[in-house]
Amino acid sequence: MKIAVDGPAGAGKSTIARLVAEKLGLRYLDTGAMYRALTLEALRRGTDTSDEDAIMRVATSIDLNIVFQAGKGNVIFLGGEDVTGLIRQPDVTAQVSVVASHKKVREFIVALQDQIGKQGSVVMDGRDIGTVVMPDADWKIFLQASVEERARRRQAEFERRGVEVDFDELQEQIRMRDHLDSTRDNSPLRKAQDAVEIDTTSLTIAEVVDEVLGLIRGEGEHVQDSGGNP
Ligand code: DC
Repeated sequence: MKIAVDGPAGAGKSTIARLVAEKLGLRYLDTGAMYRALTLEALRRGTDTSDEDAIMRVATSIDLNIVFQAGKGNVIFLGGEDVTGLIRQPDVTAQVSVVASHKKVREFIVALQDQIGKQGSVVMDGRDIGTVVMPDADWKIFLQASVEERARRRQAEFERRGVEVDFDELQEQIRMRDHLDSTRDNSPLRKAQDAVEIDTTSLTIAEVVDEVLGLIRGEGEHVQDSGGNP
């Protein structure tokens, strides 16, 4: 079974996709983490993130390992170092959309995701999973939420880590990332025609997970019945 979970930053994709995978006993892949790990390594090497060829040289020379751990989600290793926490740092977040906008970089990362998809049942979350990476997914979920709510969630996440952030600044960053992710030339953030959209703004995590599981268990609309792939 292949399940694609797409949507903008902060809509709850990673949490929901991980929990759905755990409930169904499937593997889970956080595809954003792959772009983030590449961005971290590029920043460490002092590479200009807007230079596609330079980023490709980083991409083809890193040793990226993603391990799925039940209850923990994906643990990301770069050359043997656990960088799961580091790839969420603000400097990586600020540059990752630029790195992910390069055509060759996307082709390279999507090929890795494709290999993982071919190994069997999986839940993947990202921006282009239902449209590009797994257009043949059995289920396509598109999670949405208002910018204000997404900023609130990010702020709470930072606060849990003891980091204080300005709410207006967070909203602005989210708007900017939405803009970059949805207007880029190469596989922009877009809802697949046959995806089921869930607005998570006023839902709890448990409610969204229940809704997704309900769909998959046949209590809702099946992706393949609601139209063809784009
Ligand atoms: O989901 P996230 O915030 O960790 O994603 C980080 C960035 O990577 C995001 O700005 C867009 C990009 N991304 C992408 O272009 N395609 C994906 N499948 C996943 C993420």
